Amino acid sequence: MRLAGKTAIVTGAGAGIGRATAELFAREGAEVVIAELDADKGRAVETAIRESGGAALFIQTDVSDEDAMARMTEAAMARFGKIDILYNNAGGSTLNDGKLTDVSNDEFWLKMRVDLFGTWLGCRLVIPHMIEAGGGAIVNATSVNAIVGLNRSAYTAAKGGIISLTRALAVQYAEHRIRVNGIAPGGTLTERVQERLSGAGRVSAPPSDHLLGLSDPDDIAYAVLYLASDEARTTTGHIMVVDSGMTIH
Ligand SMILES: NC(=O)c1ccc[n+]([C@@H]2O[C@H](COP(=O)([O-])OP(=O)(O)OC[C@H]3O[C@@H](n4cnc5c(N)ncnc54)[C@H](O)[C@@H]3O)[C@@H](O)[C@H]2O)c1
Repeated sequence: MRLAGKTAIVTGAGAGIGRATAELFAREGAEVVIAELDADKGRAVETAIRESGGAALFIQTDVSDEDAMARMTEAAMARFGKIDILYNNAGGSTLNDGKLTDVSNDEFWLKMRVDLFGTWLGCRLVIPHMIEAGGGAIVNATSVNAIVGLNRSAYTAAKGGIISLTRALAVQYAEHRIRVNGIAPGGTLTERVQERLSGAGRVSAPPSDHLLGLSDPDDIAYAVLYLASDEARTTTGHIMVVDSGMTIH
């Protein structure tokens, strides 16, 4: 029960790493707000957590929509009275991304809106409540794509912005006991990634540069749990890489 008594918002919690993290947070005693665009997926996670004895609230949310994010934050406050943890997880690369000269400007703005602006909005809306409560923990989802040069230009630009924003906010809000960290997964076997590896998308070979094999969503969730918990009380501005050794060689 490492998060007993805490309230956590997880964006994009309907699938993949977000779902694994929301379910882990709930098992560790947190009340979890599932801020998810896809209503079927969001409700399914809410039901699964409640059936396991946990506390969950699904709120249909597009993280790139300021009004929707404001409504979600207010609904979380109305139900639970505080927000201790925010995991800005929603996002991910698409198969329309690639080398700069092959990628449309629309793809660039999509990644800026969902990954970077979604994270910006989450922080802007939740930090005032954390200040009022005397502290909190934010974890932002970035990627190994923002650490080593890889082939997704729009996604890489957005995730790089998230790393820089994470460090700036860690400095700006330390005086309010708000910690801001990033999680940088390598290839992680979510359903979306599994689909690509099975040949449904352009990517069909598992990357051999992951020395211990690809991560499961739970492997990332456990790292996020640490960053979100009081065990990390002096860890801030840190980008935790969980990539099976991919970026070290
Ligand atoms: N899976 C990987 O290999 C990997 C690697 C590095 C980083 N990441 C990052 O981890 C995060 C989660 O990735 P994943 O693979 O679990 O993704 P996923 O596609 O499995 O799940 C993403 C969830 O977010 C929801 N979502 C999408 N757009 C949204 C929006 N605008 N508002 C609210 N919800 C929205 C989707 O409906 C889905 O439920 C992303 O930020 C991704 O960039 C993933």
